[in-house]
Amino acid sequence: QMKLKSRPDMEVFVGTLVHATDSDPMLIMQDMVLGVINGKIEFVESVEELQQLKAEYGFTDANILYMGSSQFLMPGLVDTHTHAPQFPNNGLALDLPLLEWLQTYTFPTEANFSDTVFAREVYSKVVDRLLRNGTTTAAYFATIHLDATKILAEVLHSRGQRAIVGKVNMLRNCPEYYREASLSVSLRETEEFIRYVKGFENSLVLPCVTPRFAPTCPEDQLGELAQLAIKFDCHVQTHLCETQPEATWVKELFPWAKTYTEVYDFTRLLGAKTIVAHAIWLSPQEMTILAERGTGVAHCPSSNLSLRSGHCNVRELLNRGVKVGLGSDCSGGYSPCMLDSLRKCVHVSNTIAMERAAQQAGDYTPLSHKEAFKMATLGGAKVLSMDDKIGNFEIDKEFDALLIDVQAKGSPIDVFSQDNVEMKVDRFLYNGDDRNIVRVYVAGKRLLDSTTSANATAAA
Ligand code: GUN
Ligand code: FE
Repeated sequence: QMKLKSRPDMEVFVGTLVHATDSDPMLIMQDMVLGVINGKIEFVESVEELQQLKAEYGFTDANILYMGSSQFLMPGLVDTHTHAPQFPNNGLALDLPLLEWLQTYTFPTEANFSDTVFAREVYSKVVDRLLRNGTTTAAYFATIHLDATKILAEVLHSRGQRAIVGKVNMLRNCPEYYREASLSVSLRETEEFIRYVKGFENSLVLPCVTPRFAPTCPEDQLGELAQLAIKFDCHVQTHLCETQPEATWVKELFPWAKTYTEVYDFTRLLGAKTIVAHAIWLSPQEMTILAERGTGVAHCPSSNLSLRSGHCNVRELLNRGVKVGLGSDCSGGYSPCMLDSLRKCVHVSNTIAMERAAQQAGDYTPLSHKEAFKMATLGGAKVLSMDDKIGNFEIDKEFDALLIDVQAKGSPIDVFSQDNVEMKVDRFLYNGDDRNIVRVYVAGKRLLDSTTSANATAAA
Protein backbone atom coordinates (compact mmCIF):
# COMPACT_ATOMS: atom_id res chain seq x y z
CA GLN A 1 0.00 0.00 0.00
CA MET A 2 3.06 2.31 0.19
CA LYS A 3 3.10 4.32 -2.99
CA LEU A 4 6.48 4.61 -4.64
CA LYS A 5 7.56 8.21 -5.09
CA SER A 6 7.96 9.08 -8.71
CA ARG A 7 10.68 11.60 -7.79
CA PRO A 8 12.47 10.37 -4.66
CA ASP A 9 14.76 13.41 -4.87
CA MET A 10 11.81 15.83 -4.65
CA GLU A 11 9.73 17.26 -1.82
CA VAL A 12 6.85 19.62 -2.52
CA PHE A 13 4.88 21.81 -0.11
CA VAL A 14 1.43 23.24 -0.73
CA GLY A 15 0.01 25.97 1.50
CA THR A 16 1.19 29.14 3.25
CA LEU A 17 4.77 30.44 3.04
CA VAL A 18 6.15 33.19 5.27
CA HIS A 19 9.52 34.82 4.65
CA ALA A 20 11.45 38.09 4.50
CA THR A 21 12.62 39.72 1.30
CA ASP A 22 14.72 42.85 0.68
CA SER A 23 11.53 44.87 0.26
CA ASP A 24 9.21 43.18 2.76
CA PRO A 25 10.30 42.18 6.29
CA MET A 26 7.55 39.57 6.59
CA LEU A 27 5.72 38.47 3.47
CA ILE A 28 2.87 36.00 3.90
CA MET A 29 1.96 34.09 0.75
CA GLN A 30 -1.08 31.82 0.77
CA ASP A 31 -2.02 29.06 -1.66
CA MET A 32 1.53 28.49 -2.82
CA VAL A 33 3.49 25.51 -4.01
CA LEU A 34 7.20 25.24 -3.22
CA GLY A 35 9.38 22.49 -4.71
CA VAL A 36 12.69 21.21 -3.38
CA ILE A 37 15.10 19.14 -5.47
CA ASN A 38 18.33 17.83 -3.97
CA GLY A 39 18.07 20.20 -1.03
CA LYS A 40 17.56 23.34 -3.11
CA ILE A 41 14.46 25.40 -3.83
CA GLU A 42 13.49 24.65 -7.41
CA PHE A 43 10.25 26.60 -7.73
CA VAL A 44 7.86 28.83 -5.78
CA GLU A 45 4.56 29.26 -7.59
CA SER A 46 0.87 29.82 -7.09
CA VAL A 47 -0.95 26.56 -6.36
CA GLU A 48 -2.86 27.13 -9.57
CA GLU A 49 0.27 25.93 -11.35
CA LEU A 50 0.30 22.60 -9.48
CA GLN A 51 -0.98 20.37 -12.30
CA GLN A 52 1.39 22.01 -14.76
CA LEU A 53 4.34 21.54 -12.36
CA LYS A 54 3.42 17.89 -11.77
CA ALA A 55 3.52 17.29 -15.48
CA GLU A 56 6.75 19.22 -15.98
CA TYR A 57 8.70 17.61 -13.13
CA GLY A 58 6.99 14.23 -12.95
CA PHE A 59 6.16 14.30 -9.26
CA THR A 60 2.95 13.00 -7.71
CA ASP A 61 0.87 13.50 -4.58
CA ALA A 62 3.29 11.13 -2.84
CA ASN A 63 5.87 13.94 -3.00
CA ILE A 64 3.53 16.61 -1.65
CA LEU A 65 2.88 17.82 1.88
CA TYR A 66 -0.48 19.56 1.87
CA MET A 67 -0.19 21.92 4.82
CA GLY A 68 -3.30 22.41 6.93
CA SER A 69 -4.84 25.77 7.79
CA SER A 70 -2.98 25.77 11.13
CA GLN A 71 0.35 25.25 9.38
CA PHE A 72 2.85 27.33 7.46
CA LEU A 73 6.42 27.10 6.25
CA MET A 74 9.07 29.66 7.25
CA PRO A 75 12.85 29.86 6.81
CA GLY A 76 15.02 28.30 9.52
CA LEU A 77 16.11 30.61 12.33
CA VAL A 78 19.66 31.99 12.32
CA ASP A 79 21.54 32.48 15.59
CA THR A 80 24.46 34.79 14.78
CA HIS A 81 26.15 34.47 18.18
CA THR A 82 26.23 31.85 20.90
CA HIS A 83 28.70 30.04 23.18
CA ALA A 84 28.23 26.25 23.17
CA PRO A 85 30.54 25.63 26.19
CA GLN A 86 28.59 28.06 28.37
CA PHE A 87 25.44 25.91 28.37
CA PRO A 88 26.36 24.25 31.68
CA ASN A 89 25.74 27.76 33.10
CA ASN A 90 22.62 28.39 31.08
CA GLY A 91 19.90 30.01 33.17
CA LEU A 92 22.39 30.43 36.02
CA ALA A 93 24.79 33.02 37.33
CA LEU A 94 23.36 36.21 35.81
CA ASP A 95 23.94 38.43 38.84
CA LEU A 96 27.22 40.10 37.82
CA PRO A 97 28.18 42.56 35.08
CA LEU A 98 30.22 41.29 32.13
CA LEU A 99 33.84 41.54 33.27
CA GLU A 100 33.12 40.11 36.74
CA TRP A 101 30.77 37.51 35.23
CA LEU A 102 33.54 36.30 32.91
CA GLN A 103 36.10 35.87 35.70
CA THR A 104 33.71 34.43 38.28
CA TYR A 105 31.54 32.05 36.27
CA THR A 106 32.40 31.83 32.62
CA PHE A 107 36.14 31.19 32.46
CA PRO A 108 35.97 28.42 35.12
CA THR A 109 33.13 26.73 33.19
CA GLU A 110 34.89 26.95 29.84
CA ALA A 111 38.10 25.59 31.39
CA ASN A 112 36.28 22.29 31.96
CA PHE A 113 36.38 21.63 28.22
CA SER A 114 39.90 20.28 28.53
CA ASP A 115 37.82 17.16 29.26
CA THR A 116 36.74 15.83 25.85
CA VAL A 117 34.20 13.40 27.31
CA PHE A 118 32.41 16.28 29.03
CA ALA A 119 32.72 18.34 25.84
CA ARG A 120 30.99 15.68 23.76
CA GLU A 121 28.15 15.37 26.29
CA VAL A 122 27.54 19.12 26.43
CA TYR A 123 27.99 19.81 22.72
CA SER A 124 25.59 17.03 21.70
CA LYS A 125 22.91 18.44 23.97
CA VAL A 126 23.49 22.02 22.79
CA VAL A 127 23.21 21.20 19.09
CA ASP A 128 20.10 19.08 19.66
CA ARG A 129 18.53 21.85 21.73
CA LEU A 130 19.14 24.50 19.09
CA LEU A 131 17.78 22.30 16.30
CA ARG A 132 14.72 21.48 18.44
CA ASN A 133 14.14 25.25 18.66
CA GLY A 134 14.33 25.71 14.91
CA THR A 135 17.84 27.18 14.74
CA THR A 136 19.04 25.77 11.44
CA THR A 137 22.19 27.92 11.33
CA ALA A 138 24.32 29.10 14.26
CA ALA A 139 27.64 30.86 14.83
CA TYR A 140 29.37 29.21 17.79
CA PHE A 141 32.21 30.20 20.05
CA ALA A 142 33.82 27.10 21.55
CA THR A 143 36.75 27.27 24.03
CA ILE A 144 40.52 27.59 23.69
CA HIS A 145 40.80 23.78 23.50
CA LEU A 146 41.62 22.35 20.08
CA ASP A 147 40.36 18.81 20.78
CA ALA A 148 37.04 19.86 22.29
CA THR A 149 36.46 22.38 19.51
CA LYS A 150 37.03 19.66 16.93
CA ILE A 151 34.38 17.63 18.77
CA LEU A 152 31.90 20.51 18.49
CA ALA A 153 32.57 20.68 14.74
CA GLU A 154 32.12 16.89 14.44
CA VAL A 155 28.85 16.97 16.38
CA LEU A 156 27.53 19.77 14.14
CA HIS A 157 28.57 17.86 11.03
CA SER A 158 26.98 14.61 12.16
CA ARG A 159 23.74 16.26 13.37
CA GLY A 160 23.48 18.25 10.13
CA GLN A 161 23.16 21.77 11.51
CA ARG A 162 24.57 24.57 9.37
CA ALA A 163 27.19 26.39 11.44
CA ILE A 164 30.29 28.43 11.75
CA VAL A 165 32.47 27.48 14.67
CA GLY A 166 35.65 28.82 16.19
CA LYS A 167 38.34 27.86 18.66
CA VAL A 168 38.58 30.78 21.06
CA ASN A 169 41.83 32.77 21.10
CA MET A 170 43.04 34.55 24.22
CA LEU A 171 46.44 35.18 25.75
CA ARG A 172 45.95 37.69 28.53
CA ASN A 173 43.50 39.08 31.09
CA CYS A 174 42.17 35.61 31.75
CA PRO A 175 43.16 33.05 34.40
CA GLU A 176 46.53 31.24 34.15
CA TYR A 177 44.65 27.93 33.98
CA TYR A 178 42.52 29.09 31.06
CA ARG A 179 44.60 30.76 28.38
CA GLU A 180 46.46 29.67 25.25
CA ALA A 181 50.09 28.69 25.92
CA SER A 182 51.70 31.25 23.59
CA LEU A 183 51.11 33.21 20.42
CA SER A 184 52.74 30.52 18.29
CA VAL A 185 50.60 27.76 19.86
CA SER A 186 47.51 29.94 19.37
CA LEU A 187 48.22 30.39 15.67
CA ARG A 188 49.28 26.80 15.05
CA GLU A 189 46.21 25.30 16.74
CA THR A 190 43.86 27.79 15.07
CA GLU A 191 45.28 26.88 11.67
CA GLU A 192 45.00 23.16 12.49
CA PHE A 193 41.36 23.66 13.44
CA ILE A 194 40.62 25.54 10.21
CA ARG A 195 42.23 22.80 8.10
CA TYR A 196 40.41 20.12 10.09
CA VAL A 197 36.97 21.62 9.48
CA LYS A 198 37.71 22.40 5.84
CA GLY A 199 38.49 18.70 5.45
CA PHE A 200 34.90 17.58 6.20
CA GLU A 201 33.13 16.25 3.14
CA ASN A 202 29.71 17.59 2.08
CA SER A 203 29.83 19.80 5.08
CA LEU A 204 27.64 22.67 6.22
CA VAL A 205 30.16 23.56 8.94
CA LEU A 206 32.63 26.40 8.42
CA PRO A 207 35.63 27.30 10.58
CA CYS A 208 35.86 30.77 12.07
CA VAL A 209 38.73 32.77 13.54
CA THR A 210 37.57 33.72 17.03
CA PRO A 211 39.60 36.22 19.05
CA ARG A 212 37.49 36.44 22.22
CA PHE A 213 37.65 40.26 22.43
CA ALA A 214 40.29 42.96 22.48
CA PRO A 215 41.03 42.80 26.24
CA THR A 216 42.14 39.15 26.01
CA CYS A 217 44.15 39.50 22.79
CA PRO A 218 47.34 41.54 22.39
CA GLU A 219 47.77 43.54 19.19
CA ASP A 220 50.16 41.07 17.54
CA GLN A 221 47.70 38.23 18.13
CA LEU A 222 44.82 40.20 16.60
CA GLY A 223 46.95 41.03 13.55
CA GLU A 224 48.22 37.47 13.05
CA LEU A 225 44.72 36.04 13.42
CA ALA A 226 43.46 38.48 10.81
CA GLN A 227 46.15 37.22 8.43
CA LEU A 228 45.05 33.65 9.09
CA ALA A 229 41.44 34.56 8.25
CA ILE A 230 42.58 36.25 5.05
CA LYS A 231 44.80 33.30 4.09
CA PHE A 232 41.98 30.77 4.50
CA ASP A 233 39.16 33.11 3.47
CA CYS A 234 37.23 32.26 6.61
CA HIS A 235 34.87 34.07 8.93
CA VAL A 236 35.93 36.09 11.97
CA GLN A 237 33.81 36.51 15.10
CA THR A 238 34.46 38.52 18.23
CA HIS A 239 32.80 40.82 20.78
CA LEU A 240 32.69 44.61 20.41
CA CYS A 241 31.58 47.42 22.74
CA GLU A 242 29.32 45.33 24.93
CA THR A 243 29.72 47.39 28.10
CA GLN A 244 31.08 50.82 28.99
CA PRO A 245 33.75 49.55 31.45
CA GLU A 246 34.98 47.19 28.71
CA ALA A 247 35.19 50.02 26.16
CA THR A 248 37.09 52.24 28.65
CA TRP A 249 39.50 49.37 29.36
CA VAL A 250 40.14 48.78 25.65
CA LYS A 251 41.12 52.43 25.22
CA GLU A 252 43.68 51.98 28.03
CA LEU A 253 45.01 48.73 26.54
CA PHE A 254 45.28 50.19 23.03
CA PRO A 255 46.22 53.84 23.56
CA TRP A 256 46.96 54.29 19.85
CA ALA A 257 43.34 53.58 18.92
CA LYS A 258 40.78 56.38 18.92
CA THR A 259 37.95 53.86 19.32
CA TYR A 260 37.35 50.19 20.18
CA THR A 261 36.28 49.53 16.59
CA GLU A 262 39.61 50.91 15.32
CA VAL A 263 41.46 48.23 17.30
CA TYR A 264 39.84 45.58 15.12
CA ASP A 265 39.93 47.69 11.96
CA PHE A 266 43.65 48.57 12.15
CA THR A 267 44.54 44.93 12.80
CA ARG A 268 42.49 44.04 9.67
CA LEU A 269 39.92 41.89 11.41
CA LEU A 270 36.90 43.70 9.96
CA GLY A 271 35.50 42.43 6.68
CA ALA A 272 32.30 41.18 5.09
CA LYS A 273 32.73 37.80 6.80
CA THR A 274 33.25 39.31 10.25
CA ILE A 275 30.59 39.17 12.96
CA VAL A 276 30.83 41.45 15.98
CA ALA A 277 28.58 40.64 18.92
CA HIS A 278 26.70 43.31 20.90
CA ALA A 279 28.12 46.59 19.46
CA ILE A 280 26.08 48.66 21.89
CA TRP A 281 28.34 51.58 22.80
CA LEU A 282 29.44 52.75 19.35
CA SER A 283 30.03 56.26 18.09
CA PRO A 284 28.53 57.20 14.71
CA GLN A 285 32.07 56.98 13.23
CA GLU A 286 32.39 53.40 14.44
CA MET A 287 29.05 52.49 12.88
CA THR A 288 30.31 53.96 9.62
CA ILE A 289 33.43 51.78 9.78
CA LEU A 290 31.29 48.66 10.24
CA ALA A 291 29.05 49.66 7.34
CA GLU A 292 32.03 50.35 5.06
CA ARG A 293 33.67 47.03 5.89
CA GLY A 294 30.43 45.09 5.45
CA THR A 295 30.85 43.74 8.97
CA GLY A 296 27.68 42.42 10.59
CA VAL A 297 26.40 42.92 14.12
CA ALA A 298 24.99 40.10 16.24
CA HIS A 299 22.38 41.86 18.37
CA CYS A 300 21.98 39.91 21.62
CA PRO A 301 19.09 41.50 23.54
CA SER A 302 18.62 38.66 26.03
CA SER A 303 22.25 38.82 27.11
CA ASN A 304 22.30 42.62 27.10
CA LEU A 305 19.34 42.68 29.49
CA SER A 306 20.59 39.85 31.71
CA LEU A 307 24.09 41.28 32.19
CA ARG A 308 22.72 44.85 32.17
CA SER A 309 25.09 45.75 29.36
CA GLY A 310 22.82 48.31 27.70
CA HIS A 311 20.26 48.80 24.93
CA CYS A 312 21.66 48.40 21.44
CA ASN A 313 20.22 50.99 19.06
CA VAL A 314 19.50 48.65 16.17
CA ARG A 315 17.42 51.25 14.32
CA GLU A 316 20.42 53.54 14.08
CA LEU A 317 22.72 50.70 12.96
CA LEU A 318 20.26 49.78 10.21
CA ASN A 319 19.82 53.43 9.18
CA ARG A 320 23.59 53.69 8.83
CA GLY A 321 23.72 50.63 6.61
CA VAL A 322 25.07 48.09 9.11
CA LYS A 323 23.86 44.49 8.74
CA VAL A 324 22.17 43.27 11.95
CA GLY A 325 21.04 39.78 12.98
CA LEU A 326 19.99 38.23 16.28
CA GLY A 327 22.13 36.27 18.71
CA SER A 328 21.06 34.26 21.74
CA ASP A 329 24.52 34.65 23.37
CA CYS A 330 23.96 31.84 25.83
CA SER A 331 24.86 31.87 28.68
CA GLY A 332 24.97 35.68 28.88
CA GLY A 333 21.45 35.25 27.54
CA TYR A 334 19.52 32.31 28.97
CA SER A 335 17.24 31.22 26.13
CA PRO A 336 18.55 29.13 23.24
CA CYS A 337 15.35 29.95 21.35
CA MET A 338 15.53 32.66 18.68
CA LEU A 339 11.85 33.47 19.27
CA ASP A 340 12.95 34.77 22.68
CA SER A 341 15.61 36.93 21.01
CA LEU A 342 13.04 38.20 18.52
CA ARG A 343 10.65 39.26 21.29
CA LYS A 344 13.35 40.86 23.41
CA CYS A 345 14.63 42.68 20.33
CA VAL A 346 11.23 44.32 19.92
CA HIS A 347 11.01 45.13 23.62
CA VAL A 348 14.46 46.70 23.76
CA SER A 349 13.52 48.84 20.79
CA ASN A 350 10.26 49.80 22.51
CA THR A 351 12.27 50.75 25.59
CA ILE A 352 14.53 53.02 23.56
CA ALA A 353 11.42 54.62 22.03
CA MET A 354 9.91 55.20 25.48
CA GLU A 355 13.15 56.72 26.78
CA ARG A 356 13.33 59.02 23.77
CA ALA A 357 9.72 60.08 24.24
CA ALA A 358 10.25 60.77 27.96
CA GLN A 359 13.31 62.88 27.15
CA GLN A 360 11.45 64.54 24.25
CA ALA A 361 14.45 63.51 22.17
CA GLY A 362 12.57 63.32 18.91
CA ASP A 363 10.58 60.68 17.06
CA TYR A 364 11.86 57.15 17.19
CA THR A 365 10.28 54.31 15.27
CA PRO A 366 10.71 51.10 17.26
CA LEU A 367 11.41 47.88 15.40
CA SER A 368 8.28 45.94 14.51
CA HIS A 369 7.97 42.21 15.10
CA LYS A 370 8.16 41.87 11.33
CA GLU A 371 11.56 43.56 11.26
CA ALA A 372 12.67 41.29 14.10
CA PHE A 373 11.43 38.29 12.08
CA LYS A 374 13.62 39.46 9.22
CA MET A 375 16.61 39.83 11.57
CA ALA A 376 16.04 36.27 12.81
CA THR A 377 16.09 34.88 9.25
CA LEU A 378 17.33 36.86 6.22
CA GLY A 379 19.11 39.48 8.35
CA GLY A 380 21.06 36.79 10.18
CA ALA A 381 21.95 35.13 6.88
CA LYS A 382 23.35 38.47 5.67
CA VAL A 383 25.37 38.93 8.87
CA LEU A 384 26.93 35.50 8.29
CA SER A 385 27.42 36.31 4.57
CA MET A 386 25.27 33.31 3.75
CA ASP A 387 22.37 35.14 2.09
CA ASP A 388 23.41 33.72 -1.28
CA LYS A 389 22.51 30.29 0.16
CA ILE A 390 19.90 30.74 2.92
CA GLY A 391 17.62 33.23 4.69
CA ASN A 392 14.44 33.03 2.65
CA PHE A 393 12.58 31.05 0.00
CA GLU A 394 14.27 32.40 -3.11
CA ILE A 395 14.75 29.97 -5.97
CA ASP A 396 18.15 28.20 -5.93
CA LYS A 397 18.69 28.81 -2.23
CA GLU A 398 19.15 25.81 0.02
CA PHE A 399 16.01 24.63 1.75
CA ASP A 400 16.50 25.50 5.44
CA ALA A 401 12.96 25.64 6.74
CA LEU A 402 10.56 25.11 9.60
CA LEU A 403 7.09 23.64 9.37
CA ILE A 404 5.05 25.51 11.96
CA ASP A 405 1.74 24.26 13.35
CA VAL A 406 -0.06 26.69 15.69
CA GLN A 407 -2.31 23.83 16.77
CA ALA A 408 0.39 21.19 17.27
CA LYS A 409 0.04 18.76 20.17
CA GLY A 410 0.65 20.65 23.41
CA SER A 411 0.66 24.02 21.63
CA PRO A 412 0.71 26.99 24.03
CA ILE A 413 -1.24 29.09 21.49
CA ASP A 414 -4.99 29.59 21.54
CA VAL A 415 -6.31 29.96 18.03
CA PHE A 416 -9.79 31.38 17.53
CA SER A 417 -12.21 30.69 14.72
CA GLN A 418 -11.97 34.27 13.39
CA ASP A 419 -8.18 34.15 13.16
CA ASN A 420 -6.76 34.90 9.75
CA VAL A 421 -3.38 33.68 8.58
CA GLU A 422 -1.50 36.82 9.65
CA MET A 423 -2.89 36.45 13.18
CA LYS A 424 -1.69 32.84 13.31
CA VAL A 425 1.81 33.87 12.24
CA ASP A 426 1.91 36.72 14.78
CA ARG A 427 0.63 34.48 17.58
CA PHE A 428 3.38 31.98 16.79
CA LEU A 429 6.06 34.67 16.92
CA TYR A 430 4.82 36.00 20.27
CA ASN A 431 3.37 32.92 21.99
CA GLY A 432 4.76 29.92 20.15
CA ASP A 433 7.56 27.63 21.24
CA ASP A 434 9.37 24.50 20.10
CA ARG A 435 6.18 22.45 20.31
CA ASN A 436 4.90 24.44 17.33
CA ILE A 437 8.01 23.62 15.27
CA VAL A 438 6.89 20.29 13.88
CA ARG A 439 9.55 19.84 11.22
CA VAL A 440 13.07 21.18 10.80
CA TYR A 441 14.87 21.03 7.45
CA VAL A 442 18.49 21.92 6.73
CA ALA A 443 19.61 21.82 3.10
CA GLY A 444 16.47 19.84 2.34
CA LYS A 445 17.21 17.19 4.94
CA ARG A 446 14.46 16.56 7.48
CA LEU A 447 16.33 16.64 10.78
CA LEU A 448 13.29 16.64 13.00
CA ASP A 449 9.69 15.56 12.49
CA SER A 450 6.98 15.54 15.11
CA THR A 451 4.06 15.60 12.71
CA THR A 452 1.75 12.65 12.83
CA SER A 453 0.48 11.42 9.48
CA ALA A 454 -2.94 12.63 10.67
CA ASN A 455 -2.13 16.34 11.00
CA ALA A 456 0.41 16.48 8.17
CA THR A 457 -2.12 15.37 5.59
CA ALA A 458 -5.26 16.80 7.18
CA ALA A 459 -5.94 19.13 4.29
CA ALA A 460 -5.08 16.67 1.56
N1 GUN B 1 33.01 39.22 25.99
C1 GUN B 1 34.07 38.42 26.04
N2 GUN B 1 33.73 37.15 26.27
C2 GUN B 1 32.41 37.13 26.38
C3 GUN B 1 31.45 36.09 26.62
O1 GUN B 1 31.76 34.90 26.78
N3 GUN B 1 30.15 36.46 26.66
C4 GUN B 1 29.76 37.75 26.48
N4 GUN B 1 28.47 38.04 26.52
N5 GUN B 1 30.63 38.73 26.26
C5 GUN B 1 31.94 38.43 26.21
FE1 FE C 1 29.09 36.36 23.54
